[in-house]
Amino acid sequence: MTVTDFEGRPAEVNEYHVDWDVSAAEKGGYDYFMLKEIAEQPRAVADTLLGRIGTDGRLHLDEMRIADRELREVDKVVIVACGTANHAGMIAKYAIEHWAGLPCEVELAHEFRYRDAILSPTTLVIAISQSGETMDTLMAVRHAREQKAKLLAVCNVNGSTLPRECDGVLYTHAGPEIAVASTKAFLTQLVAVYLIALYLAQVRGTKWGDEVFAMIQLLERMPEKVDKVLETMEPVRELARSLANERCVLFLGRHVGFPVALEGALKLKELAYMHAEGFAAGELKHGPIALIEEGLPVVVIVPPRARDVLHDKIVSNIQEIRARGARTIVIAEEGDESVEPYADTLIRLPAVPTLLQPLVATVPLQVFACELATAKGHDVDQPRNLAKSVTVE
Ligand code: AGP
Repeated sequence: MTVTDFEGRPAEVNEYHVDWDVSAAEKGGYDYFMLKEIAEQPRAVADTLLGRIGTDGRLHLDEMRIADRELREVDKVVIVACGTANHAGMIAKYAIEHWAGLPCEVELAHEFRYRDAILSPTTLVIAISQSGETMDTLMAVRHAREQKAKLLAVCNVNGSTLPRECDGVLYTHAGPEIAVASTKAFLTQLVAVYLIALYLAQVRGTKWGDEVFAMIQLLERMPEKVDKVLETMEPVRELARSLANERCVLFLGRHVGFPVALEGALKLKELAYMHAEGFAAGELKHGPIALIEEGLPVVVIVPPRARDVLHDKIVSNIQEIRARGARTIVIAEEGDESVEPYADTLIRLPAVPTLLQPLVATVPLQVFACELATAKGHDVDQPRNLAKSVTVE
């Protein structure tokens, strides 16, 4: 094969290994690609982790290409992304601030480029995109490049535009994602941003080597936890079918549960064409609680009990909305009995650390939206008005 430019001159090509085969782009017995991609998540999460941990127990991010010395000089992180990838960015903020002790802003890429963001050569801009071709994200990166920021891509598509325009890249290795609604790409983006946060902590010395290694070991156990969630999804499917005629569903979360709530609402909007909103639970009393009426389904993501302050706050949020007639659908870790009296439906999650909870808490929301949309007779792989990759601004 010869690759040329439009004038027929041989073009310079970079070779790379495509690590999936044609079966990865087939439905493999599933009715929809989305169902297959949801089921593939344990494997995809494991693949994102593959080859990142050296025999010395330290993280090695081969394609980071930004020198450790430069990463030590970074004084601010800005994350740009759209849609689901932006929700991954919101979760990254908690990890980066907590583990690496760096201030972190998260911005919708299309908003970022039209404001006067203060960037410098010591700003690390992380652009997250499954496709690597989202025009809004590319334009945000070009805007950051003009201001000499360091650019790091988190991307699933090898050789796409975004990683080519950034200084470094972390590929998510999720394999091809064909359904328009992002599922395995999201979970693997989360793993990638956790790795970046831990790598920054390792390089900058904000966490000891053994602390980083302990977190990596917890991450390595996540595929089995995601698998466990997938095994218990039948009641979620039943619930989704029973709500197919509802007009609206609300989602509430706190801390990293807030972006999970936003993601649950986005999935329902794009697949079931239903009005769905995600809120930070603490925001309820500042307005959204007025929406609560008799029988309104409200999904609440409860943080692990180990985060006692957060946990207790959300339990009282559940009480508040239930007292006003909401039908509460509570997603909480196994063994958390405190939520039982206030849950009309209870969905259990395996116990995991708070920061990693989005990896398990998002899965029931994907299944819920997929099943509800299917019950309404929608094509979940190809929702109306949407494209997989938004290559226009
Ligand atoms: C999510 O289900 C959507 N398909 C959409 O929000 C998507 O995440 C967004 O358009 C960004 O796409 P990208 O990751 O390819 O940049």
